[in-house]
Amino acid sequence: MITPNMHYADLKDSYLFYNIAGKTKAYLAENPDKKLLRLGIGDVSLPLCDAVIKALHSAVDDQAIKENFHGYMPECGAPFLREAIAEHYKKRGVMLSSDEVFVSSGASDELGDILDLFDRSSSCLVIEPAYPAYVDANVMAGRKIVHLASGKENGFLPEPDEATQADIIYICSPNNPTGAVFSREQLQRWVDYANEKGSVILFDAAYEAFIEDESLPHSIFELNGAETCAIEICSLSKTAGFTGTRLGYTVISKSLVRNGMSLNDMWVRNRTTKTNGVSYIIQKGAAAVFTDEGICQINDNIKIYKNNAKVIMEALDKIGIWYCGGKNAPYIWLKCPNNMGSWDFFDYLLKEIQVVGTPGEGFGACGEGYFRFSTFGSPEDTKEAAERLVKLLS
Ligand code: MLT
Repeated sequence: MITPNMHYADLKDSYLFYNIAGKTKAYLAENPDKKLLRLGIGDVSLPLCDAVIKALHSAVDDQAIKENFHGYMPECGAPFLREAIAEHYKKRGVMLSSDEVFVSSGASDELGDILDLFDRSSSCLVIEPAYPAYVDANVMAGRKIVHLASGKENGFLPEPDEATQADIIYICSPNNPTGAVFSREQLQRWVDYANEKGSVILFDAAYEAFIEDESLPHSIFELNGAETCAIEICSLSKTAGFTGTRLGYTVISKSLVRNGMSLNDMWVRNRTTKTNGVSYIIQKGAAAVFTDEGICQINDNIKIYKNNAKVIMEALDKIGIWYCGGKNAPYIWLKCPNNMGSWDFFDYLLKEIQVVGTPGEGFGACGEGYFRFSTFGSPEDTKEAAERLVKLLS
């Protein structure tokens, strides 16, 4: 009889957001007249911007015309999109060649898939609280996980020290769930550590478009030496509302070499074997994001989410609850009031005011006692949720 991957037995029963969706569904089934306000999973509420919609329509029309029709796309991405992304990096002073950019179907898919590049005996460091997929994808592969806890005392931005040992290092900045952002100096210390030890940083930049403070790095490749130790994984999900449309990109420099193997070459080999590329239509829509018109329109949407953050932060200030994030990130991370546990607080908000958030414990043990609000809801729902919170907790 075949033996399944027994590492699945080491996973928690169900994935965090699946679990929350189940709880809210059960609550609604019992209370069908209640209006739920969802500030839980970071799913966008605004539609795709006009420039993207026009490009998608025009690409659909191309598929109806023999001369413009596209079948299989290049596995690593269409040249027009790889070039547009490389140009986008250039504006920030990061020089890439377009074949260092890989188009993907989204950052969450890629964060798991990219692990194919590493031996299963390699250890993996996760800064916690953390996006749970980092841990689960490595548990599935049977890797040793080093949990590096962070907390209020270091602003949820820990740095490596002599005792730190890991081959793969996940860094998410701006951070999901805490909203904390590494400064250049702090991130440089991780880059220096990885170069010294021969580790590889998987830098999740999915929230970079929310950075307001000009001194903060958007890309790890803004740091000296990152090209020899980091892979950057980014997405249009939150930047341009592509959560349901699906498109991401990954940057692997040609200078990233371990044991004489080029990780860029390896990823080409992987993608050409395991994928047939991302749909032509979606890549055309994505390319429109990087035009002047697209950038302007997505920034208008980001401003709306940032205003949601302001509304929630003002409510928390009024109640007197400690929080961080919200300014350079679309998540607000708060201390549960009255020393409540994070799942207790989840149940309390759901039952009393029908506001759904995400319990901090779902992001690792050190998230216990904390809670996350997403700012991607509609402005109307966010305002109403803030009012309900103030009324309940003041
Ligand atoms: C989150 O809520 O943490 C994210 O939206 C989940 C994701 O990006 O998959």
